Amino acid sequence: MALSDPKIIPNIPERLLMGPGPSPVSSSVRLAMAQPVLGHLDPAFLAIMDEVADHLRWVFGTENRLTLPLSGTGSAGMEAAVANWVQPGQRVLVVAAGLFGQRLADAAARQGGVVDVLEVPWGSALDAEQLKDRLAQAPEPYAVVALVMAETSTGVLQPMDGLSDLVHRHGALFLVDAVTAIGGMPVDVDRQGLDVVYAGTQKCLAVPPGLAPFSAGEAALDILRQRPSPVPSWYLDLSMLERYWGGERFYHHTAPVSMIYALAEGLRRIRREGLDARFARHRRASAALGAGLQAMGLSLVVDAAVRLFSLTTVYIPEGVDDAAVRGRLLNDFGIEIGGGLGPFRGRVWRIGTMGEGAQLEPVARVLSALEATLHRTGGVEAAVASWGGASGA
Ligand SMILES: Cc1ncc(COP(=O)(O)O)c(C=O)c1O
Repeated sequence: MALSDPKIIPNIPERLLMGPGPSPVSSSVRLAMAQPVLGHLDPAFLAIMDEVADHLRWVFGTENRLTLPLSGTGSAGMEAAVANWVQPGQRVLVVAAGLFGQRLADAAARQGGVVDVLEVPWGSALDAEQLKDRLAQAPEPYAVVALVMAETSTGVLQPMDGLSDLVHRHGALFLVDAVTAIGGMPVDVDRQGLDVVYAGTQKCLAVPPGLAPFSAGEAALDILRQRPSPVPSWYLDLSMLERYWGGERFYHHTAPVSMIYALAEGLRRIRREGLDARFARHRRASAALGAGLQAMGLSLVVDAAVRLFSLTTVYIPEGVDDAAVRGRLLNDFGIEIGGGLGPFRGRVWRIGTMGEGAQLEPVARVLSALEATLHRTGGVEAAVASWGGASGA
């Protein structure tokens, strides 16, 4: 039976996924999901779990013992982070520079956290001085400071230098969303001092949506152990999940076996490529896409210095119908790009260069479809020149 056997769920079209996720998935990752299902306590499966946890430590840049993929999409990672580390009545500071920062604030408040939001204008990054001032002015100390490292609603990469020192000097835990960064841009949990970090499989890891890689350090685990009340979410209680993923292999819930295979294969591919080479490829694809869009006379939303390698936001030209263009790309060219969210709705497109999509060919395909649809020229040519010329470093 072939990967694209027409008898298996017919009528699923082949798309080039160049939106904000999910991203294109290689055939080896798709075939990994078709391997025989093992029991979740079978020694052969436990060996794959160990391999996945090791690879995740490497991608996260951490020695953290508690490093595992949670069963659920990136949002399960967000939910787990706040359910385990935001306790009712605790003060929490959330940096909101876009929709996912706002969601993080909402999720923390739903756990009973007393949430302050440090608003950053959409399209900009937080300045470390802003955080410093805010922490200095806090009437009572915060227990947790949380932010999104790669804001998928705006395309901004948050510079992380110095932030964890500020948070730790204040005595708080640093909780970070790395969903759109992991596997495409450096996420150095230990060096950057991140106490709790969650991600997702469906973006630069190039694995289908369904798992949330997660890591927490010893300071966070100490707090978890000292909680006076149990974690309100039974399913996402990390003190219990740790016992299944750790040496004890204590049954908690039935692991999504086929998704773990997919992640194992996706991470093996990343190991073969190497992280530095992979980050360079993402940077190069983003530069080529940006050059192409600008050559077509379009304006990018985010300054190059803080632009994500995995996602580019571009203003929709005056008088152009957002939905009609995205519909034409999908229906005539089989290409998906994303629309804007919140205040960017109808004003920007979001174009991903994630995982398998971070190459010249898919970038050139998006640009050529946009050229045909917008009746503009020069995009593909500029992207090819940028790709050839960029050092990729
Ligand atoms: C920054 C960020 N956080 C969290 C999520 C939620 O992940 P999911 O949609 O996989 O649940 C997303 C999804 O796009 C995201 O971009």
